[in-house]
Formats: sequence, structure tokens, C-alpha cells
Amino acid sequence: MLQQSVPFLMVYNPLLFTLPKLMETLKQTLNNLVSTCLTEVSGIADCNANVITASRPEFGDYQANGVMSIAKQLKTNPRQLATQVAELLETQGDALIDHVDIAGPGFINIHLSSQALIERADLILNENSLLIPATLEAQTIVVDYSSPNLAKEMHVGHLRGTIIGDCLARVLERQGHRVLRQNHVGDWGTQFGMLIAYMREVKTENEDLPTQLADLESFYRAAKQRFDDDSAFAEIARASVVKLQSGDADHRAVWEQFIEESLLHCHAVYERLNVTLSRKDLKAESFYNNELEGIVSKLDSTGLLTVSDGARCVFLEEFTGKDGTPLPVIIQKSDGGYLYATTDLAAVKYRSFDLKADRSLYVVDARQSLHFQQVFAVAKAAGFSSGSISLEHIAYGTMMGSDGRPFKTRSGDTIKLVDLLDESVRRAFDLVSQKNPSLEESARQLIADKVGIAAVKYADLSKNRTSDYIFDWSTMLSFEGNTAPYLMYAYARIKSILRKQSVILEKYEITSLSEQEERNLLIKILQLAEVIEMVANDGYPNLLCNYLYELAGSFMRFYESCPILKAEGPLRDSRLSLAALTADTLHQGLDLLGIETLEQM
Ligand code: ARG
Repeated sequence: MLQQSVPFLMVYNPLLFTLPKLMETLKQTLNNLVSTCLTEVSGIADCNANVITASRPEFGDYQANGVMSIAKQLKTNPRQLATQVAELLETQGDALIDHVDIAGPGFINIHLSSQALIERADLILNENSLLIPATLEAQTIVVDYSSPNLAKEMHVGHLRGTIIGDCLARVLERQGHRVLRQNHVGDWGTQFGMLIAYMREVKTENEDLPTQLADLESFYRAAKQRFDDDSAFAEIARASVVKLQSGDADHRAVWEQFIEESLLHCHAVYERLNVTLSRKDLKAESFYNNELEGIVSKLDSTGLLTVSDGARCVFLEEFTGKDGTPLPVIIQKSDGGYLYATTDLAAVKYRSFDLKADRSLYVVDARQSLHFQQVFAVAKAAGFSSGSISLEHIAYGTMMGSDGRPFKTRSGDTIKLVDLLDESVRRAFDLVSQKNPSLEESARQLIADKVGIAAVKYADLSKNRTSDYIFDWSTMLSFEGNTAPYLMYAYARIKSILRKQSVILEKYEITSLSEQEERNLLIKILQLAEVIEMVANDGYPNLLCNYLYELAGSFMRFYESCPILKAEGPLRDSRLSLAALTADTLHQGLDLLGIETLEQM
């Protein structure tokens, strides 16, 4: 696991003096610089210079767009104001800026100093954790993800939440936040009554329960069949939930056996997917059982509870149906049973007051969006959330088949996640064998194992999470375009260039940025930190994917126009160092996506 090198700050280190700057991204440093000048020149407090990456190469490296709106407030000429800001900037002589110029109605175009870029890069080559600066304000952040229902096996519908959540957890952790993963699995409720009843029945007839549970999906189907066909069994199933919930030891033991088996399935999937969830992250729905009564009484004493058709509900003004009638949040059914929302209220309370989280992210299907809006609103009204916690639903769309409907088998069954991964590895193996028939079978298998999993993950992570997307084998496994195979190959290719160098460099050091393609590549590398900042704030892993794809493109352009191994002396060493830094950036970026690289492909 990646750890922030905090102790590094404690000891004497010559880097220390340059570190504060490295704690900021290029954009942050520039924005602070220009904003300070703008504030001083305009006399308006806390101006934001709104520095962004330049929209075109002729506009320099970055541009400040914030002058115009300040000029408007002052009713002054924006170009003139921009000129004054630029002059002040120049007198300050920050080493990062080579020069600025004014464009259009008052944009400030910023050209960075190649020397300063080189210095930054060399610090990073010396200490590669600096590629992504540690946050200055470490927070406690809950990431609720994967969270499948344990009655069935994980299916393709669980892929998105599991890998998007894992990427966000990795990114936030890498920034130095305290990340608390929460696997809020569904392990309670009526379905488990049915499963327990069926298990007890099968157990008496057949000792070989574990083999049957090995295929949870067919076990569930068999139990459901029994339930639908035999009303006496259905009665026993209903009684079993009551027994389980009232704490009957035998029912509890059978339930535990089932849950254990189901969790083994989940963790086998996590391992294959290279997902960082472990058993200690488990916070199942049943964990909140003892809290639910208290949730109801608190809602009651706050005056939020209404009885409607025998059920206890909360009605909030802001939630109405199409016809304007108020929508209930059902808290407790007439038979006393609690609901999904009740457990989530208890979980908000736990994350707020026990875990003391600053943010709580819910990486859950977009179809649950109303549920979360309601839970967050009720929690706030009843005081289950502290004033300081930010509750965020990180919603994602559905994975579709080529027919534009949720991805299913031909016969309309859900597809098990393991089966999907097996198929991907199989397809990757065929592909690698075509490309590289002379490679030994075991080597091809090793590559296929990694590429197959990476392809599925990357195809998903590279889409904007809020939209649905069409699952398509041929694009995700292509070695061209914005895909995992392309990026993994780009990485392996750089590594092979580095292996081919004839002299062993004592240390990597960039000393020259005379070619435009070298400079573009280095700036791109230094922008990883900016992208990570955005992913951490808004939760869109596709930004990181796009970035890595562009980075690989920048490298290819550099590689085509700047010979590395054919160059000589210091120039060759500098270019090798730039290549090494690119490889490391790709590696760190892919790692944050949960994608493993190969040194050779
Ligand atoms: N088990 C739920 C499902 O399969 C997802 C749970 C998400 N997390 C939460 N706190 N509600 O739909």
C-alpha cells in the first residue's frame, strides 16, 4: 500500500526549502501568484485570477482569465488592469514564470521557465512520491463502495461501483487523507429467511452443503423456486427471518455460514480485480441492527414521524411525486420491519459521530439517487449528520449490452462477474497469442491475466461515470486508442528503452528542455498532480484516464522527434531521465486506477 512519506518532512533535508512549492501543483502556484497581484492592484479583497491550462499552445502554458470580471467590478479597462497585474508579477520575479503577455480583452498568458520546470522534475526524480503532493489538510473520508447484496453472487452490475470506489479510495489515500472503506453489504432482510430455511432443509437431507453453496447463484434460484412453489416452505421461510432477527442461535449459525460463504465469493472477486477491500472494511447492514430502534425514536421525538397506512414514515416538503403529493421515506413497516433507508440513517450517524468523517462518499448506482437525497435530508433534519460532514452520492450509470439494455446473457440472465473476467482473460490470451505466437504459453498467460482484467476495468473507468455505456469487447481489448492495452504497452515500451541503454546512469537527471516536444512532455508529467486534485474533489476517474492517454501521446511525439539512445552524452542522459519520469508517471497513474503494469509485453 502506498504511504505518504510524512517522516521525510521531519528530518533535515535540503529539499525542505523547495518543498512548500512542491506541495502545490503548477496551477495552484500560478493561481496564488497571479491572484495576489490582482488583489493588490485592484484593491478588491481575495481576487481569484482563475488560472487554467492554456487553451492553445500560442497562449503559453497557462492563462489567467480572472482579470476581466474584476475590471468589470471596477468599471475599468480590463487590458489596462491586466497590464498592471503583469507588471507587478514581473517585478516579483517568481522563478517559475519566464514571461507573461497580455492577449485579447485582458487574458494573461503565462510562459513557464524551462529551468524551473527542470528543477521541479529533478526533485521528483529524486523522490518520486512528490509527483503527487500530499494534501495540506488531511481529512477523514469514508468511501462506501462495492456493497453487494450477499444473497446472490456478484454480477456485472457490481463492477462499476467496485472499481470506481476503489480508484477514489486509492487517490484520496495517496493524497494523505485518512480513508475508511466501508463495504455496506446487504446481509439482512427477508431473502435471508428463505435462504436459511432452504439451507436447513438441504442440510438434513444432504451433508454436502459447501459444494452447493459454491454456486450461490443456483442455490439462490433453487431456494426461490421452493419458496414460490410450496406455500408451507414459504411460511417456514417467513418464520425463519423472525427467528433470525430475534436472535435464535441455530438460525443465526446457519445465517453466519451462508454469509461467510458469500463473502468468500466477494473477496475472490476483489482479489482478481485488484481491489483493495479487505475483511476489515466490512460494515454490513446487520452491524446497525441495534441502532434502528433508536433511529425511530429519535425521529419520533423530533416530530418527524408520521404513520401512514400503518407504516412509520417521514415526509419532507422537498420530496413530492409527479402529481405533487408528498413522497414518504418509509422507516418502519406495519409488521415492525425496518427498511434500507433506516439502516442508511444509522450509517450516516455512525460515519458522522463515531468515525468523525469530514466526507462520506457513496459510490452507488444512479438509480438510487432519490434514496440518497432523502436519506441525507432526513439525516440532516433529525441531527443524524453532524454539521461538518459532506455527504456525497457518487452516482454511476448502467453497463449496457450492444442492444442498449442492461448487460445480460442471451437468455436474459444476469452475468456473474467472475464469468465476465474469465471471458476477458480468454480473449486477451487469444489476442496476445496472435500478436506474439513465439512467446511461451506461460508468458502469454501471464500477460493475458493482467491485460484481460485491466481492459475491463479501464473501459469502465475511462467513461464518464454518470452516463450509461455500452460494453464492447473489441474496443476495450484494442491496442490502439484510449484503452488499457495501449497504456500498458506504452509503459512496457518505455521500460524496454530504458533497459536498452548501454551505460548505467548513476542517477536520473533532466538537464535540457531545448526541444518543444521535451518541454510539452515534461509539463504534461507535472500536471498529473492537477488531475489527481480534480479526481479527489469530484470523483471522476475518467479524468485520470484521459490524462494518462494524453501523456502516452505526448511521449510518443517526444519519442518520434527526439532520439534518445542515438543521442549522445548529457543530452541522451537527460532524455533517458525524461523517459524514466514518464514511465513512473504512467505507473503511478495506472496504480491509482487499480491497474497493474507489466515490465515487458
Ligand atoms: N447493497 C446495496 C445494493 O446492492 C448497495 C448499498 C450501498 N450503500 C449504502 N450505504 N446504501 O443496492
